[in-house]
Amino acid sequence: MLEKNVAQLLNEQVNKEFFSAYLYLDLSNFYERKGLAGFANWYKIQAQEERDHAMLFYQYLHNNNATVTLEAINKPNAELKTLMDPLKVSLAHEEYVTNLIHGIYAAAQKANDFRTMQFLDWFVKEQGEEETNARNLITKMELFGDDPKSLYMLDNELAARVYAAPSLVL
Ligand code: FEO
Repeated sequence: MLEKNVAQLLNEQVNKEFFSAYLYLDLSNFYERKGLAGFANWYKIQAQEERDHAMLFYQYLHNNNATVTLEAINKPNAELKTLMDPLKVSLAHEEYVTNLIHGIYAAAQKANDFRTMQFLDWFVKEQGEEETNARNLITKMELFGDDPKSLYMLDNELAARVYAAPSLVL
């Protein structure tokens, strides 16, 4: 049995991860309109990964005999004007999600819920990678974003990203 508080936080995370998918789809949508298909591809794949994350929390709750309640997903409301804006939004969002994951981890630790801690280990690592990716993209945009040829090459680089299913299997 999952402790009530831990189960509730895990359930909320299902919603947060679906919101992340929606937010990233909006960032992809922004770049599609700007004609940067590579950036759009990067965030469309990011959205797919976030749906996977949501489903991992969903399945973990079911595997542990907990009730899942699906709540409404908020409208993404990031203000996107410059080509840099989505990259900054993405980093801030990942830092926020890292805090959420750490919060669930702390609750699981307090409840001596070793199984949930082990489940969350994958997400702790994943958050580290996602923050690094987001920071690297900002650096690249700062370095090359003002030069059209370099921006074209960066867009091509991001077009090469392909979807890979998560390495965590429940
Ligand atoms: Fe589900 Fe981007 O973390």
